[in-house]
Amino acid sequence: MTIDVSRTFSIRDCRPGDAEMLSALGARLFTESYGPTHPEPELSRYLARAFPVSVVRTALESPDDFFLVVEDGKGAATGYASMRMSPDPPAGVDGERAVEVVRFYVDPAYQGRGVGAALMEECFVEATARGADVMWLQAWKEAPWAIGFYARMGFAVVGSTFFHFGEQIDNDHVMARPLQQ
Ligand SMILES: CC(C)(COP(=O)(O)OP(=O)(O)OC[C@H]1O[C@@H](n2cnc3c(N)ncnc32)[C@H](O)[C@@H]1OP(=O)(O)O)[C@@H](O)C(=O)NCCC(=O)NCCS
Repeated sequence: MTIDVSRTFSIRDCRPGDAEMLSALGARLFTESYGPTHPEPELSRYLARAFPVSVVRTALESPDDFFLVVEDGKGAATGYASMRMSPDPPAGVDGERAVEVVRFYVDPAYQGRGVGAALMEECFVEATARGADVMWLQAWKEAPWAIGFYARMGFAVVGSTFFHFGEQIDNDHVMARPLQQ
């Protein structure tokens, strides 16, 4: 049974003042999700490049980037999404105005309860409000949980690309779905 997440969780836009929280949350959820397959020593280097407070704050201050955070009834962050306007999307992404989902994570303790679906629905609303007509993302080909979730949310594989993690090069799907304007 899917619980009514609106009673238990809330989803809100992020502001520059959320930089410290998002920096810590992003590093933690990346490590918990992908640390076993993306280990040290590159893991620390990647976290230091991707999630410093300064990097997150710069994105939060950019008009092209937008973030959503999921909070539980006590205000603890349990998931987040970051999106970016994408004027030059990869081949296969058809649309006039694209948005990339750069990051999308639900805390493992809260997965499987409809939180990800609620967060993605809110991503659609936010992207559509910014005039987007297509949404795209990269999903690791060896992450069937993510591919299955995105397919359930209406995304289809439209191409392939790579994710560079030090000397490890992951093969990723490019997945996209149209947005109703
Ligand atoms: C992928 C992820 C965001 C899904 O979040 P979630 O809160 O567990 O998803 P939900 O409970 O809202 O599930 C939504 C729908 O997707 C489906 N779904 C979830 N995982 C699935 C899977 N592995 N395969 C197929 N469908 C799946 C659910 O069954 C549900 O559909 P339903 O309503 O018909 O039952 C979450 O597992 C996660 O954060 N994983 C680790 C981080 C990650 O890999 N992020 C993606 C980076 S590319």
